[in-house]
Amino acid sequence: MNRLLVSAACSALLVTLAVAAPASEISSSVSIVASSSIASTAPAPSETVPLASDDPNAALWNADTTIVPQAIRGSLGATILGPQNIDIDRQNADFLAPPTTDAGDIPNAKITEVMPIATSMAGVNMRLEAGAIRELHWHKTAEWSFVISGFVQLTAVDSEGQNFLETVGPGDLWYFPPGIPHSLQATNESADGAEFLLVFDDGAFSEDSTFLLTDWMSHIPKEVIAKNFQTNISAFDHIPGQQLYIFPSAPPPENAVAPEDPQGHVPNPFTFKLSQVKATPLSGGSVKVVDSSTFTIATEIAVADITVEPGAIRELHWHPTQDEWTYYLSGLGRVTLFGAQGNSRTFDYEPGDVGFVPASFGHFVENIGNTTLHFLEIFNSDRFQDISLAQWLALTPPALVKAHLQLDDDTIDHLNKTKQIVVGPQ
Ligand SMILES: *[C@@H]1O[C@H](CO)[C@@H](O)[C@H](O)[C@H]1NC(C)=O
Ligand SMILES: *[C@@H]1O[C@H](CO)[C@@H](O)[C@H](O)[C@H]1NC(C)=O
Ligand SMILES: *[C@@H]1O[C@H](CO)[C@@H](O)[C@H](O)[C@H]1NC(C)=O
Ligand SMILES: *[C@@H]1O[C@H](CO)[C@@H](O)[C@H](O)[C@H]1NC(C)=O
Repeated sequence: MNRLLVSAACSALLVTLAVAAPASEISSSVSIVASSSIASTAPAPSETVPLASDDPNAALWNADTTIVPQAIRGSLGATILGPQNIDIDRQNADFLAPPTTDAGDIPNAKITEVMPIATSMAGVNMRLEAGAIRELHWHKTAEWSFVISGFVQLTAVDSEGQNFLETVGPGDLWYFPPGIPHSLQATNESADGAEFLLVFDDGAFSEDSTFLLTDWMSHIPKEVIAKNFQTNISAFDHIPGQQLYIFPSAPPPENAVAPEDPQGHVPNPFTFKLSQVKATPLSGGSVKVVDSSTFTIATEIAVADITVEPGAIRELHWHPTQDEWTYYLSGLGRVTLFGAQGNSRTFDYEPGDVGFVPASFGHFVENIGNTTLHFLEIFNSDRFQDISLAQWLALTPPALVKAHLQLDDDTIDHLNKTKQIVVGPQ
């Protein structure tokens, strides 16, 4: 499962530098074609679309290569700023740096040891060079994001015609409800641009199934465009003949503000400065929870940002109705999923890995390294909810607990009636 998501992530990384609009070269050549039926003297074939590239497209490394793999092929791509699982990337050169001939949204066809089980959410790791723009677009699912590195300037307009512009940095969040048009652009506040985790509330989501401004404009008859915008058709002579998706541009000005809007700006911001929220200290780490009770607009995705110190554990718990999509930012974690009927399986996670815990599956997250374990629990829900095993037992009549587990009175007395979330070390 990890690998599916990590691979989806990585193919998006390479696109970060994809160069702008060769499109104008294409637009003029379409008219030549269909004179074929004129019989005997067949005309010499003429070029109607750009020729297929001769660029070499071999796999760039293999599992035995000792380089740190990067999502770079020739002049395309960029280095990874966030956490990276180097072993997995070494084994999957064509996921991280795919041939330039790859395109579209063919699902993962490499079955690793575990079949994908994440059906309720999907993730993409995206890297933008300073100034690069993820073009104006929208999609049918909600988009939630956590900034891993750098700064991103966001714009949006809602259905009331109210607009929005804001810049977020490392550890901050954004959320766009389904269908809301928006753009992302890395600022140059960090010379390396930005990297962020995108999560969508649909496991079948593909970055390729987004509605792009340039893709749409290049698929509308020009006369209709002129009529719609009430202009001379020549005003649209230079629009790209195909989508831009991600393209380089000048960095946005530092103190950019949204254009003046007669309808006013959006009442509920699409961003949340999680980096500025003070974490709740716990005996074994810390937690910050953000759901629609504080980030009002985020009605379909909630998150708990959790740290677990060496020797401590995210306590035994489950989430009543929500699947958990976990993203590991730093440290080493170990999780056992309990799936009822005697089913149980343990997984080890490294920075850059993605985990999945189906709703109601009992689990813990143990720090098995020597450094702070930091991860995000992400839910397709308007509220964060969990049930603590220890709290459940503490608030159940002691005799009943004793009848099940044969605990002594002292142990039962020590069960804490307050949810601990992250406990230890002793
Ligand atoms: C549109 O612009 C072109 C080029 O400037 C001009 O020749 C043409 O007359 C204009 N058409 C209309 C309807 O204004
Ligand atoms: C970043 O970009 C802004 C806007 O283009 C420019 O004014 C500024 O000098 C740039 N800063 C750096 C460090 O490149
Ligand atoms: C943690 O530190 C101990 C003692 O230095 C060492 O033996 C162990 O391998 C380290 N564990 C990890 C996961 O780095
Ligand atoms: C129970 O947890 C609370 C809050 O974390 C803590 O203040 C208290 O000392 C704990 N009580 C016991 C008996 O451990």
